[in-house]
Amino acid sequence: MEKIVILTGAGLSAESGLGTFRDEGGLWAQHRIEDVATPEGFQRNPRLVMDFYNARREQAAQAQLNAAHKALARLQKEFPGEVIIVTQNVDGLHEKAGSAVIHMHGALDGALCAACDHRWQAPLRMAPGDACPKCNAPAARPDIVWFGEIPYHMEEIAAHLAGCTLFVAIGTSGQVYPAAGFVQEALMHGAQTVEINLNATDVSGAFQTHLIGPASQEVTRWVENLLN
Ligand code: APR
Repeated sequence: MEKIVILTGAGLSAESGLGTFRDEGGLWAQHRIEDVATPEGFQRNPRLVMDFYNARREQAAQAQLNAAHKALARLQKEFPGEVIIVTQNVDGLHEKAGSAVIHMHGALDGALCAACDHRWQAPLRMAPGDACPKCNAPAARPDIVWFGEIPYHMEEIAAHLAGCTLFVAIGTSGQVYPAAGFVQEALMHGAQTVEINLNATDVSGAFQTHLIGPASQEVTRWVENLLN
Protein backbone atom coordinates (compact mmCIF):
# COMPACT_ATOMS: atom_id res chain seq x y z
CA MET A 1 0.00 0.00 0.00
CA GLU A 2 1.37 3.43 -0.99
CA LYS A 3 2.20 5.75 1.91
CA ILE A 4 2.89 9.43 1.21
CA VAL A 5 4.56 11.72 3.76
CA ILE A 6 4.27 15.42 2.96
CA LEU A 7 6.37 18.09 4.71
CA THR A 8 5.03 21.62 4.34
CA GLY A 9 6.67 24.97 5.03
CA ALA A 10 5.86 28.66 4.89
CA GLY A 11 5.79 28.67 1.08
CA LEU A 12 2.53 26.70 1.21
CA SER A 13 0.81 29.66 2.91
CA ALA A 14 2.62 32.41 0.99
CA GLU A 15 -0.29 32.74 -1.46
CA SER A 16 -2.64 33.06 1.50
CA GLY A 17 -0.85 36.30 2.29
CA LEU A 18 1.19 34.97 5.22
CA GLY A 19 4.84 36.00 5.01
CA THR A 20 7.56 33.40 4.75
CA PHE A 21 10.70 33.61 6.88
CA ARG A 22 13.61 33.77 4.48
CA ASP A 23 12.24 35.23 1.30
CA GLU A 24 12.91 38.87 0.41
CA GLY A 25 11.43 40.99 3.21
CA GLY A 26 10.40 37.90 5.14
CA LEU A 27 9.80 37.62 8.87
CA TRP A 28 13.47 37.16 9.64
CA ALA A 29 14.27 40.33 7.75
CA GLN A 30 11.80 42.23 9.99
CA HIS A 31 12.65 40.66 13.36
CA ARG A 32 15.77 39.11 14.89
CA ILE A 33 15.21 35.40 15.54
CA GLU A 34 17.04 35.69 18.86
CA ASP A 35 14.60 38.38 19.99
CA VAL A 36 11.27 36.75 19.06
CA ALA A 37 11.81 33.01 18.55
CA THR A 38 14.08 31.81 21.37
CA PRO A 39 13.46 31.05 25.07
CA GLU A 40 16.17 33.63 25.92
CA GLY A 41 14.36 36.27 23.90
CA PHE A 42 11.13 35.48 25.76
CA GLN A 43 12.92 35.75 29.11
CA ARG A 44 14.48 39.08 28.09
CA ASN A 45 11.36 40.72 26.67
CA PRO A 46 8.14 38.69 26.97
CA ARG A 47 6.02 41.62 25.77
CA LEU A 48 7.92 41.81 22.45
CA VAL A 49 7.52 38.06 21.93
CA MET A 50 3.84 37.97 22.89
CA ASP A 51 3.14 40.88 20.52
CA PHE A 52 5.06 39.14 17.68
CA TYR A 53 2.84 36.06 18.04
CA ASN A 54 -0.31 38.12 18.64
CA ALA A 55 0.27 39.82 15.28
CA ARG A 56 0.88 36.49 13.52
CA ARG A 57 -2.15 34.88 15.26
CA GLU A 58 -4.44 37.72 14.11
CA GLN A 59 -3.03 37.53 10.57
CA ALA A 60 -3.46 33.75 10.44
CA ALA A 61 -7.04 34.02 11.75
CA GLN A 62 -7.90 36.24 8.75
CA ALA A 63 -5.91 34.32 6.14
CA GLN A 64 -7.79 32.49 3.40
CA LEU A 65 -6.97 28.95 2.32
CA ASN A 66 -5.29 28.70 -1.05
CA ALA A 67 -5.69 25.96 -3.67
CA ALA A 68 -2.67 24.07 -2.31
CA HIS A 69 -4.23 23.61 1.16
CA LYS A 70 -7.43 22.41 -0.50
CA ALA A 71 -5.62 20.03 -2.85
CA LEU A 72 -3.77 18.40 0.06
CA ALA A 73 -7.03 17.96 2.00
CA ARG A 74 -8.59 16.35 -1.11
CA LEU A 75 -5.57 14.04 -1.44
CA GLN A 76 -5.95 12.91 2.17
CA LYS A 77 -9.62 12.13 1.56
CA GLU A 78 -9.42 10.48 -1.83
CA PHE A 79 -6.02 8.79 -2.07
CA PRO A 80 -6.35 4.99 -1.62
CA GLY A 81 -3.16 4.81 0.51
CA GLU A 82 -2.08 6.72 3.65
CA VAL A 83 -1.28 10.45 3.44
CA ILE A 84 0.58 11.96 6.40
CA ILE A 85 1.02 15.73 6.48
CA VAL A 86 3.82 17.04 8.72
CA THR A 87 3.89 20.82 8.88
CA GLN A 88 6.46 23.33 10.11
CA ASN A 89 3.72 25.96 9.76
CA VAL A 90 1.86 27.25 12.78
CA ASP A 91 -0.95 29.05 10.90
CA GLY A 92 -3.74 26.46 11.21
CA LEU A 93 -4.62 26.59 7.49
CA HIS A 94 -4.22 22.83 6.97
CA GLU A 95 -6.90 22.21 9.60
CA LYS A 96 -9.13 24.92 8.08
CA ALA A 97 -8.95 22.94 4.81
CA GLY A 98 -10.00 19.77 6.65
CA SER A 99 -6.59 18.08 6.77
CA ALA A 100 -5.26 15.98 9.64
CA VAL A 101 -1.79 17.33 10.33
CA ILE A 102 1.21 16.82 12.62
CA HIS A 103 2.45 20.18 13.97
CA MET A 104 6.19 19.75 14.58
CA HIS A 105 6.71 23.45 15.47
CA GLY A 106 3.51 23.94 17.49
CA ALA A 107 0.62 26.18 16.50
CA LEU A 108 -0.45 29.81 16.94
CA ASP A 109 -3.81 28.72 18.37
CA GLY A 110 -2.06 26.83 21.16
CA ALA A 111 -0.96 28.11 24.58
CA LEU A 112 1.42 26.31 26.92
CA CYS A 113 2.14 26.68 30.63
CA ALA A 114 5.89 26.97 31.21
CA ALA A 115 5.32 25.85 34.82
CA CYS A 116 3.11 22.75 34.51
CA ASP A 117 3.12 21.92 30.77
CA HIS A 118 -0.67 22.28 30.53
CA ARG A 119 -1.88 23.16 27.00
CA TRP A 120 -5.03 25.04 26.03
CA GLN A 121 -6.59 26.99 23.16
CA ALA A 122 -4.75 30.33 23.00
CA PRO A 123 -6.80 33.54 23.10
CA LEU A 124 -6.35 35.80 20.07
CA ARG A 125 -4.03 38.01 22.11
CA MET A 126 -1.74 36.82 24.91
CA ALA A 127 0.15 39.01 27.41
CA PRO A 128 3.14 38.40 29.68
CA GLY A 129 2.04 36.92 33.01
CA ASP A 130 -1.20 35.42 31.69
CA ALA A 131 -2.23 32.76 34.19
CA CYS A 132 -2.34 29.06 33.40
CA PRO A 133 -5.98 27.89 33.68
CA LYS A 134 -4.80 24.71 35.38
CA CYS A 135 -2.04 25.65 37.89
CA ASN A 136 -2.72 29.40 37.94
CA ALA A 137 0.99 30.24 37.58
CA PRO A 138 1.57 33.48 35.56
CA ALA A 139 3.55 31.31 33.11
CA ALA A 140 1.53 31.18 29.86
CA ARG A 141 3.52 31.24 26.60
CA PRO A 142 2.76 30.56 22.94
CA ASP A 143 2.83 26.80 22.22
CA ILE A 144 5.44 27.36 19.52
CA VAL A 145 8.74 25.45 19.27
CA TRP A 146 11.46 28.09 19.44
CA PHE A 147 15.02 27.77 18.20
CA GLY A 148 16.97 25.67 20.69
CA GLU A 149 13.85 23.70 21.67
CA ILE A 150 12.97 20.15 20.55
CA PRO A 151 10.35 19.89 17.76
CA TYR A 152 7.21 17.92 18.63
CA HIS A 153 6.23 14.39 17.53
CA MET A 154 9.72 13.48 16.27
CA GLU A 155 9.37 9.74 17.06
CA GLU A 156 6.05 9.53 15.25
CA ILE A 157 7.50 11.42 12.28
CA ALA A 158 10.54 9.14 12.12
CA ALA A 159 8.26 6.10 12.01
CA HIS A 160 6.26 7.61 9.14
CA LEU A 161 9.46 8.43 7.21
CA ALA A 162 10.72 4.87 7.70
CA GLY A 163 7.56 3.48 6.16
CA CYS A 164 6.78 5.91 3.35
CA THR A 165 6.97 5.11 -0.37
CA LEU A 166 6.84 8.77 -1.39
CA PHE A 167 8.19 11.87 0.41
CA VAL A 168 7.14 15.33 -0.79
CA ALA A 169 8.48 18.66 0.53
CA ILE A 170 6.36 21.70 -0.31
CA GLY A 171 7.33 25.36 0.19
CA THR A 172 10.23 24.86 2.56
CA SER A 173 13.75 26.20 2.13
CA GLY A 174 15.45 23.18 3.68
CA GLN A 175 17.53 25.37 5.98
CA VAL A 176 16.18 24.31 9.39
CA TYR A 177 16.82 20.88 10.89
CA PRO A 178 15.50 18.34 11.75
CA ALA A 179 12.85 19.00 9.03
CA ALA A 180 15.50 19.62 6.37
CA GLY A 181 16.91 16.14 7.00
CA PHE A 182 13.61 14.27 6.51
CA VAL A 183 14.31 13.75 2.80
CA GLN A 184 17.52 11.85 3.62
CA GLU A 185 15.64 9.59 6.06
CA ALA A 186 13.00 8.88 3.40
CA LEU A 187 15.68 8.17 0.76
CA MET A 188 17.45 5.78 3.15
CA HIS A 189 14.23 3.79 3.32
CA GLY A 190 13.86 3.66 -0.46
CA ALA A 191 11.16 6.32 -0.92
CA GLN A 192 10.67 8.37 -4.08
CA THR A 193 11.20 12.08 -3.35
CA VAL A 194 9.56 15.18 -4.82
CA GLU A 195 10.27 18.85 -4.05
CA ILE A 196 7.60 21.45 -4.86
CA ASN A 197 8.90 25.01 -4.59
CA LEU A 198 9.09 28.36 -6.37
CA ASN A 199 12.81 27.74 -6.87
CA ALA A 200 15.76 25.56 -5.89
CA THR A 201 16.57 25.09 -2.20
CA ASP A 202 19.56 24.04 -0.09
CA VAL A 203 18.39 20.42 -0.27
CA SER A 204 17.11 20.22 -3.87
CA GLY A 205 19.96 17.83 -4.70
CA ALA A 206 18.41 15.19 -2.45
CA PHE A 207 15.15 15.11 -4.41
CA GLN A 208 14.59 12.99 -7.51
CA THR A 209 11.79 15.18 -8.91
CA HIS A 210 11.33 18.97 -8.78
CA LEU A 211 8.06 20.74 -9.53
CA ILE A 212 8.95 24.42 -9.85
CA GLY A 213 6.23 27.02 -9.46
CA PRO A 214 3.73 28.46 -6.98
CA ALA A 215 2.26 25.87 -4.62
CA SER A 216 -1.33 26.78 -5.55
CA GLN A 217 -0.63 25.63 -9.13
CA GLU A 218 2.00 22.91 -8.70
CA VAL A 219 0.38 21.13 -5.72
CA THR A 220 -3.03 21.19 -7.40
CA ARG A 221 -1.58 19.74 -10.61
CA TRP A 222 0.46 17.13 -8.69
CA VAL A 223 -2.62 15.97 -6.70
CA GLU A 224 -4.77 15.82 -9.83
CA ASN A 225 -2.18 13.65 -11.58
CA LEU A 226 -1.92 11.37 -8.54
CA LEU A 227 -5.70 10.93 -8.20
CA ASN A 228 -6.58 10.57 -11.88
N1 APR B 1 4.91 28.43 -3.67
C1 APR B 1 5.86 27.49 -3.36
N2 APR B 1 6.97 27.78 -2.63
C2 APR B 1 7.11 29.04 -2.18
C3 APR B 1 6.17 30.06 -2.46
C4 APR B 1 5.03 29.70 -3.22
N3 APR B 1 4.08 30.60 -3.53
N4 APR B 1 6.62 31.22 -1.88
C5 APR B 1 7.78 30.92 -1.28
N5 APR B 1 8.09 29.62 -1.46
C6 APR B 1 9.25 28.88 -0.93
C7 APR B 1 10.55 29.65 -0.94
O1 APR B 1 11.22 29.48 -2.18
C8 APR B 1 11.30 28.95 0.20
O2 APR B 1 12.01 27.82 -0.27
O3 APR B 1 8.96 28.60 0.42
C9 APR B 1 10.18 28.48 1.14
C10 APR B 1 10.07 29.31 2.41
O4 APR B 1 11.24 29.10 3.16
P1 APR B 1 11.31 29.69 4.64
O5 APR B 1 10.86 31.09 4.64
O6 APR B 1 12.69 29.35 5.15
O7 APR B 1 10.22 28.86 5.46
P2 APR B 1 10.34 27.41 6.05
O8 APR B 1 11.20 26.54 5.19
O9 APR B 1 8.98 26.94 6.34
O10 APR B 1 11.11 27.67 7.45
C11 APR B 1 11.30 26.54 8.28
O11 APR B 1 12.25 27.95 9.99
O12 APR B 1 12.17 29.94 11.08
C12 APR B 1 11.86 28.61 11.18
O13 APR B 1 10.17 27.69 12.51
C13 APR B 1 10.39 28.43 11.35
O14 APR B 1 9.00 26.69 10.49
C14 APR B 1 9.98 27.64 10.12
C15 APR B 1 11.26 26.97 9.71
